[in-house]
Amino acid sequence: MSYLTYYKESIDNPKDFWRTQAKQLAWHKEPQNILSKDKHDYSQWLEDGELNLSYLCIDKHINDGFGDQNAFIYDSPVTNTKQHITFNQLHEEVSKLAGGLQSLGLKKGDTTIIYMPMIPQAAYAMLACARIGVIHSVVFGGFAPHELAIRIDDCKPKAIITASNGVEIKRIIPYKPFVDEAIDKSTHKPSNVIVFDRQLGVEIPKKDYDVDFTSLIENSSSIEAVPVASTHPSYILYTSGTTGTPKGIIRDTGGYATALKFSIKYVYGVNEGETFWAASDVGWVVGHSYIVYGPLLNRNTSIIFEGKPIKTPDASTFWRVISEHKVKSMFTAPTAIRAIKKEDPNGEMLKKYDLSSLKYQFLAGERCDVATLTWTQEKLKVPVIDHWWQTESGWPMIANMVGVSLQDVKPGSSGLPVCGYNIKIVNEDGEEVQAGTEGYVVIKLPLPPGALSNLWGNPERFKSGYLDRFPGYYFSGDGGYADEDGYIFITGRVDDVINVAGHRLSTAEMEEVVSSHKEVSECAVFGVHCELKGQKPLGLIVLRTDDIPDKERIQKEIIQDVRREIGAVASFRDVHFVKRLPKTRSGKTLRKLLRNIADEHQYNVPSTIDDISIIDEIKSIYQAQKIGIHK
Ligand code: COA
Ligand code: AMP
Repeated sequence: MSYLTYYKESIDNPKDFWRTQAKQLAWHKEPQNILSKDKHDYSQWLEDGELNLSYLCIDKHINDGFGDQNAFIYDSPVTNTKQHITFNQLHEEVSKLAGGLQSLGLKKGDTTIIYMPMIPQAAYAMLACARIGVIHSVVFGGFAPHELAIRIDDCKPKAIITASNGVEIKRIIPYKPFVDEAIDKSTHKPSNVIVFDRQLGVEIPKKDYDVDFTSLIENSSSIEAVPVASTHPSYILYTSGTTGTPKGIIRDTGGYATALKFSIKYVYGVNEGETFWAASDVGWVVGHSYIVYGPLLNRNTSIIFEGKPIKTPDASTFWRVISEHKVKSMFTAPTAIRAIKKEDPNGEMLKKYDLSSLKYQFLAGERCDVATLTWTQEKLKVPVIDHWWQTESGWPMIANMVGVSLQDVKPGSSGLPVCGYNIKIVNEDGEEVQAGTEGYVVIKLPLPPGALSNLWGNPERFKSGYLDRFPGYYFSGDGGYADEDGYIFITGRVDDVINVAGHRLSTAEMEEVVSSHKEVSECAVFGVHCELKGQKPLGLIVLRTDDIPDKERIQKEIIQDVRREIGAVASFRDVHFVKRLPKTRSGKTLRKLLRNIADEHQYNVPSTIDDISIIDEIKSIYQAQKIGIHK
């Protein structure tokens, strides 16, 4: 079938389309009610169905005779470990861990937080929760205890599942001590912390609430998967918004499973039994959808990679993994490719490997510049597919659906709308704009199965943040334009969310931390261009008094504050002192103006600004950052 026919079918007859896709799953109870409304008058999919994600990801394949196939390959250059985990072995670990969780009193509808590095036990924990209907919330390891504490207080986990340590290149990262610190800071106190001891030779202080992960599995018996309603939340995943408080995206179960099974086949082009690799982290949506649930639902072998594109040990790691594990389709962020390209500009390292298994290279998580796309195409000699989606959607919204039919690749564009996503570009008044005109990227409601069902404990923010701005549409927060052929070009966020090395971060959150420094009068944090990471945050700071002799000390303290409160992942390293910030008459910082200057978009200087030198000063700071004068 042609892409266009398939796509039109999904938009014109969504109920039939998704009923057919839902039939690809082994439901405990097949859904009849395909599309309905929830108590918030928001759409829900496959509402009366019952299923279990853990069953579909594991037991189903064993029942079908594939127990000896590898479910995961754990490849960890940072610990020199490679481990193949079959569906049978995965069943043993997950079903016993689920039994262990049950023995600790966890039951359907309870919440847990998973704070773990890229080790198989992270996936076991997710699948064990899903097995008994416990709603997990995985928190990325690069976030600091303070961020973890915010999430503990928001989703009130009965237990936290963690590991003793992570390994970042050669550094040992203290995971369990961070959890202890977070629990000290949070108001809500989980009953237990289940700790996987990685035996890395680091002493971890013990607490009364600790439970040993390995003993819990050893001493528990396997339990069967518990069917849950299709609308039951499978997980909460916190993501950055435009305020200092992260948003807990709620994902359902049945719609999600349907969308993942569909997308792994038709977007990523992998068939059952083949190997898929998303080089991301379980702490991000990519990890949920395409390291754990998506590939396993489709009986693919998925790679759990604990390393970096460079330095673990060098820029050939990705090519080694593809070649060694015969990866058919791979997903990474453009930043990773830029890092490899910087170390190995002529691609000499990839010549050492047989990459014939690789059929498609997918890129997402941030804007993909044309140079990166072209380099990857030239070196890998396979279609390189930029595609666009968000934590909220849970799966791709714009792509080249190679599993249906490969379309032309247009560098700079994320491709064409994916089945189920009726994407429009609108102006400030919500009117559709012509091809070539930039506007807001919105999606006509209802969103397809798998997209967010609400925000945890905050339906008002869900409505005001996504639905109210353009009635009848979901507002993505991104800007972009479509060309005459319907290809969409994403130009970047239109709000204060930034994307650093494919990691989504909130500048508002950083501003909260910066402005709490006692010498700071006011501040603004912005994303500026970064050659490697796409964007990086930069703080413009007005001090309480200008005659402070050791500004360098303040600079260091502010940078340290952000690292301590938000985490290393913020990559906040650039602080500049300015005399004042450009303001409106009512005293509000002109954020849009600052953003436009940073992004080199057109802007007008409002008449409220009488001293234009402030704009020139900020422009020269941004410019210096761009050409790398300041590190
Ligand atoms: N746990 C603890 N700390 C972490 C972490 C984790 N899981 N992930 C990152 N960090 C830390 C890093 O150690 C680093 O700390 P440092 O400032 O002390 O060096 C900081 O957070 C920033 O990390 P990162 O953004 O990874 O930068 P880097 O300079 O270490 O590496 C790249 C640069 C390009 C190699 C790396 O950014 C990369 O691999 N990018 C691609 C990321 C990606 O795939 N994103 C897509 C997600 S879908
Ligand atoms: P996250 O929720 O962390 O996946 O981040 C989602 C945001 O990343 C989107 O809203 C975009 O701003 C950006 N993004 C993701 N993929 C792309 C892409 N292919 N092109 C441009 N921006 C992207």
